[in-house]
Amino acid sequence: MQLRPATAWTLVLSLLLLSLYSTEAHNITRILAKFPDFSTFNHYLTVTHLAPEINNRQTITVCAVDNAAMDDLLSKHLSIYAIKNVLSFHVLLDYFGAKKLHQITNGTALAATMFQATGTASGSSGFVNITDFKGGKVGFGAEDNGGKIDAVFVKSLEEVPYNISVIHISKILPTPEAEAPTPGPSQLNLTSAMSAHGCRVFAETLLASDAEKTFNDNLDGGLTVFCPGDDAFKNFLPKYKNLTAEGKQSLMEFHGIPVYQSLAMLKSNNGLTNTLATDGASKFDFTVQNDGEEVTLKTKLVTAKITGTLMDEQPVAIYTIDKVLLPKELFKAALTPAPAPAPEKEADSPKPSKKKHSSPPEPDSPAESPDEDPADQTADSNNAVRFNGARFVAVILSVLCLASLQM
Ligand SMILES: *[C@@H]1O[C@H](CO)[C@@H](O)[C@H](O)[C@H]1NC(C)=O
Ligand SMILES: *[C@@H]1O[C@H](CO)[C@@H](O)[C@H](O)[C@H]1NC(C)=O
Ligand SMILES: *[C@@H]1O[C@H](CO)[C@@H](O)[C@H](O)[C@H]1NC(C)=O
Ligand SMILES: *[C@@H]1O[C@H](CO)[C@@H](O)[C@H](O)[C@H]1NC(C)=O
Ligand SMILES: *[C@@H]1O[C@H](CO)[C@@H](O)[C@H](O)[C@H]1NC(C)=O
Ligand SMILES: *[C@@H]1O[C@H](CO)[C@@H](O)[C@H](O)[C@H]1NC(C)=O
Repeated sequence: MQLRPATAWTLVLSLLLLSLYSTEAHNITRILAKFPDFSTFNHYLTVTHLAPEINNRQTITVCAVDNAAMDDLLSKHLSIYAIKNVLSFHVLLDYFGAKKLHQITNGTALAATMFQATGTASGSSGFVNITDFKGGKVGFGAEDNGGKIDAVFVKSLEEVPYNISVIHISKILPTPEAEAPTPGPSQLNLTSAMSAHGCRVFAETLLASDAEKTFNDNLDGGLTVFCPGDDAFKNFLPKYKNLTAEGKQSLMEFHGIPVYQSLAMLKSNNGLTNTLATDGASKFDFTVQNDGEEVTLKTKLVTAKITGTLMDEQPVAIYTIDKVLLPKELFKAALTPAPAPAPEKEADSPKPSKKKHSSPPEPDSPAESPDEDPADQTADSNNAVRFNGARFVAVILSVLCLASLQM
């Protein structure tokens, strides 16, 4: 029997969509939901926004503690930011299943943690010492606490070698540095932080604008800022000066959103977002969209890309972007096809010829999925995307096999 072309295509398309939709390799919230004894730990992974950070990693070990051990931590009345630091110290950036824990070379290893990876930790703090004792006991301790072993391995909760391992350890690992009170966000000087990291022009413009107050008013409740780099904003200054006072304020506020968004959250929540400039009928919104490993911000006039993380300390995140975001509400004129002065998009810097959706002809995918173009892998280090690319190829191969078997 031969597979009719229509049937084959339906198969290809549905398998393709299935494979493209699963961006994340695992879901820590779902894994822990099976263990009611770990509900407090699970809850705090969600409220501290660590869950998406964990889901975005390809090789990871989560050292979970039960509800009683979490109660000990919570009785210290730490701020949510300190709790986030403590919990991120319990996420090891390597795979340690039960078997591997009992087979550690020379009986001891140091594991880097997510706390260490945030850059908040100083020196060697941020590493966990794992020691496999004689008799099969495996101990865990902060590396910088003089060799004290604070917790022991109890059991494995879930293992997907070598992607994610979730293990139960007896206690929270005490880490003075992670537990230290984090400076309140309202003590943060936004403009000097941006000035010191390549966004001086944007920061100085913000200082001279009423928008500075809007930004500062949002510091405690959650704020994400996208600041254009100095070259981009300098080129834009003549256009900025041309705006009315109100327009200037809106333009600046268009570069902030009134919620905290980690990079992992931006990657997993694509779509329209309001900004600090949004006010009733004045939408002032833009679209967040993945482009391979990169996160882009799109208005009708410009597509900017996130080029770096200037700061990420919940509830405040600051990212650098390569272009000034142009709201259509202020630059409508540039949208009309009148050829006169070229619109900002072209006038700016020469656009890097993005290879967006060029190479392999792809079946028309639905609007939600173009971000996961399996071809967009060049020079990207994101495993999740590579993973999908591999699945894409595998799906095509298996369908071809199937089809040839049927002939
Ligand atoms: C993970 O699982 C939880 C619970 O099943 C669900 O609410 C959440 O949306 C999932 N997250 C992702 C990113 O799929
Ligand atoms: C294990 O111990 C041996 C001998 O002491 C040493 O040469 C080797 O580097 C150690 N390996 C690791 C991974 O620490
Ligand atoms: C871990 O701590 C133990 C002491 O408890 C020490 O003997 C061992 O060398 C440490 N391991 C590493 C890799 O630093
Ligand atoms: C683990 O992740 C890799 C990609 O990084 C994937 O190919 C593999 O299927 C995953 N394993 C399991 C059991 O999910
Ligand atoms: C931040 O620092 C600048 C000078 O570096 C100062 O002008 C500004 O008022 C400060 N902002 C706040 C909110 O303290
Ligand atoms: C400023 O506005 C005027 C009048 O609307 C326009 O002719 C001029 O091109 C604008 N300059 C810039 C740099 O956009």
